[in-house]
Parts: sequence; C-alpha cells; structure tokens
Amino acid sequence: VLVRATDYLARHGVDSPRRTAEILLEDVLDTDRAGLYSLGDDLSAHDARAFGRALCRRCSGEPLQHITGAQSFMGLDLQIRPGVFVPRPETEVVAQSAVEMLTRVADPLVAVDLCTGTGAIALWVKHRRPEARVLAVDISAEAVRLAGDNASRLGIEIEILRGDLFDPLPRELEGSVDLIVSNPPYLTEDEYATVDPEVRADPLFALVGGTAAHRAIVQGAATWLRPGGALVVEIGAGQADEVVAIFRERLEEVRVMRDLAGRDRVVGGRLP
Ligand SMILES: C[S@@+](CC[C@H](N)C(=O)[O-])C[C@H]1O[C@@H](n2cnc3c(N)ncnc32)[C@H](O)[C@@H]1O
Repeated sequence: VLVRATDYLARHGVDSPRRTAEILLEDVLDTDRAGLYSLGDDLSAHDARAFGRALCRRCSGEPLQHITGAQSFMGLDLQIRPGVFVPRPETEVVAQSAVEMLTRVADPLVAVDLCTGTGAIALWVKHRRPEARVLAVDISAEAVRLAGDNASRLGIEIEILRGDLFDPLPRELEGSVDLIVSNPPYLTEDEYATVDPEVRADPLFALVGGTAAHRAIVQGAATWLRPGGALVVEIGAGQADEVVAIFRERLEEVRVMRDLAGRDRVVGGRLP
C-alpha cells in the first residue's frame, strides 16, 4: 500500500512522497511509524477509503498539516487548524535562540511571544523554563483559540492574549520583561505573489508585512524589556541588514543567526 501511495504522490509532484504516505497512513490508522511497520493485517475497506481520500487531498495541494491536523515543533505535538499559520521547521532556530538568550537569567522570569499563532514558541519557552511567566499575543481570534487548545492539551500553562503586538500586555510589566520573541508576518507583497500555492493556505495577515512589524517590535521592546532584556525575531530572506540597522537604533549585542540551510533567519539583541 505504501509503495503504491508513494508512487501516486510522486507522480503528482508531492515533496517527500514516501514520508508523506507514511504520515497519512499513520494518521488514518492512529498509530506512529513503529506501529505502522509492525502491522500485519491488510487495511480494512474503511481505512483504505480514508487513506485514498487523504492522498487525494494532498495531491490537490492541501498542506499535510491541514489533513492530519498536527505538526511537531521542537518535539511538542501541536494541533493545527486551517486559518492559523502552520509552524515551520526554520522557526525552531528562533525558539532555540530565544531560550539560549535566557541562560544567564534566573527564574522567575517573564517572556513574551508576539504573533504566537499556534502558540509554538511560547509553549517551547515555558516547556524549557517552567518557572517563567510566559505571555503569548496574537491579533487573530482563531490563533488565540488554537494556542489555548494547544496549551491545555500539552498541560503547559501560558497566558494568551488577543490584540495588536504589545497592546494587550498588562501595563505593570513595562520595563520588566526578560525576553521578547516573535515570528511576525514578514513577506513582502512581491514575495507573496510568487510563493507556492501551498503557502497561501496560511492566512494573508500571517504572512505579509515586510519589516514593518520588526520596526514596531523593536520600538516596543525599548519600553517593555528590562535593562539587559533580550529581543529575538525571525526575518525573511534578504532582510538581515535592514533589521540589524533597526535593532542598532535601540539595542546592543545585535547578531544574526542562521537556520539549518545556512540562511540568515534570526536577529537577536539586548536592551542596554
Ligand atoms: C508568521 S505567523 C507566526 C506564528 C507563530 N509564531 C509561528 O512561528 O508558528 C504570524 C502571526 O502573527 C499574527 N499577527 C499578525 N499581525 C499581528 C499583530 N499586529 N499583532 C499580533 N499578532 C499579529 C498572525 O495572526 C499570525 O498568527
């Protein structure tokens, strides 16, 4: 079954056809990879039909994560729903860098994830620093709901607020936040016009913005961070120089970090 499904996906130009076939079949059979390869029985007619439907959806360009409703992020199993940005592997570098920026900070610390989407980065920070107070903000009601569902399912307690960047944060935290992290919408309109159709399955407001959000976040960071507090943001291709210049207007120890493909992906800095 897997061999035929892999061939079918490959003929429709789907990336990683073998692994995709495995993930879809694991989802239909509600098992993991080891479970899949230890099954001895044929597929029931019901499961075969469900697998066939899943293959068709994938071949017609629906993102894998929308079909399975799941995506792993730093080993955390996140629920995914259409209407909320699907976390990408490259954002794991942002989450990792954010936690590393906190190594010198003692608990209890305060961390804020702006533009949280599924809650991915905020949940990872809280998972690594359980004593921290972690607040997550998103402008989208669907994202706020999904981040809340992910937090409950994982048993990780974070505060999730709806609003525009810093607006919903409690005023008493001004000047005392240890870490602000964000993966904001950063594609330009021109880049959006050329992305794969699959990328457009994510909402436009989660994708497009250029460096406007980076500028607003750096400005806000000067108000909300404590002296020495860290800011870590994800950037798009070719944005490193511009975002570094924006950081240097307010922050020090500014540096650029790369993703696994060697692309500039993250800018970090600290408030003097
Ligand atoms: C690129 S997605 C990142 C989601 C998540 N942090 C991740 O890495 O998977 C950007 C997110 O920013 C949210 N967003 C867009 N504009 C915003 C704003 N002005 N204030 C807060 N959130 C915003 C979108 O709803 C979306 O969830």
